[in-house]
Amino acid sequence: MAFFTHQVCRGFSSSAVRNVVIKHVTVIGGGQMGAGIAQVAASTGHSVTLVDTNDDILKKTVKGIEGSLKRVVKKKYADKPEAGEEFIQKVLKNVSTSTDAVSVVQGSDLVIEAIVENLKIKQDLFSQLDKAAPAHTIFASNTSSLPISDIASSTNRLDRFGGLHFFNPVPMMKLVEVIGTSATSQETFDSLLNFSKTLGKTPVSCKDTPGFIVNRLLVPYLLESIRLHERGHGSKEDIDIAMKLGAGYPMGPFELADYVGLDTTKFIIDGWSQMEPNNPLFAQSPMLNKLVEEGKLGKKSGEGFYKYK
Ligand SMILES: NC(=O)c1ccc[n+]([C@@H]2O[C@H](COP(=O)([O-])OP(=O)(O)OC[C@H]3O[C@@H](n4cnc5c(N)ncnc54)[C@H](O)[C@@H]3O)[C@@H](O)[C@H]2O)c1
Repeated sequence: MAFFTHQVCRGFSSSAVRNVVIKHVTVIGGGQMGAGIAQVAASTGHSVTLVDTNDDILKKTVKGIEGSLKRVVKKKYADKPEAGEEFIQKVLKNVSTSTDAVSVVQGSDLVIEAIVENLKIKQDLFSQLDKAAPAHTIFASNTSSLPISDIASSTNRLDRFGGLHFFNPVPMMKLVEVIGTSATSQETFDSLLNFSKTLGKTPVSCKDTPGFIVNRLLVPYLLESIRLHERGHGSKEDIDIAMKLGAGYPMGPFELADYVGLDTTKFIIDGWSQMEPNNPLFAQSPMLNKLVEEGKLGKKSGEGFYKYK
């Protein structure tokens, strides 16, 4: 696969970063994504500090990681339960927690941010971290829908800033989208690609455009499926069956939208339609808007396009 070459930004210190070897990783945000990223990084021998806003959340996150590791070990070490337990303890030893991001980034080679999807909050966080982190530290955001360059603009390390977009559930999903802005240096980009490989993932190179690759194709597909149903061209059940049996997809678009979360899907399309109001692929769906307004957010709320027990 040919990875595109990034222009090294002129006007910023290139700070002699040469394919940084990433040993210590700070993961900020211990939610669904941060927990998965921390688990995978710790399982592949990285020392990981997980940061969230309070200790209760962090305790829950570490418990969640332990539970997830137990499921991995049950399969991987079915014949050797002792070796499995040893693996879990070794991985957990690689994870420490903190509520003070500013102090822990001082020992970090890479900071991966996986906090709430809000530009201002992400910018505030990175602006603080930029002042505290060493020069060689690379910053990366796991944002699904915000431009990496907008988040990076709050820092003075545009050449050492990129995107690492993981997929949910992180321990299972093999793909990482590595995003470079026009200011990301080649060294930073290569370091992020190599880091993704050390996690056992397959990286693909992406430009800093809405949705990168996967969501740019997936979200318009989900929206067009809903519009197809709105136009009366098929029931949601038939559209789901059609895409599973006719296109070989493991889930139909309505099942998938419920799994992703209808609020998340709406949030993404709202942001893109603001950026490109005339793009018909990013047009709003009244049906989606109504379900979200009614609090029917998909699987997580018990009802979306379908009902869940
Ligand atoms: N959920 C997905 O399927 C998915 C997939 C890819 C990318 N993403 C992106 O990953 C990011 C996180 O998503 P998530 O689903 O894990 O969210 P989540 O709500 O499960 O977790 C977010 C965590 O961040 C913490 N947090 C919020 N502000 C913080 C701050 N200032 N400092 C430290 N911690 C803070 C919260 O307490 C929470 O534990 C978002 O940018 C999202 O777009 C999500």
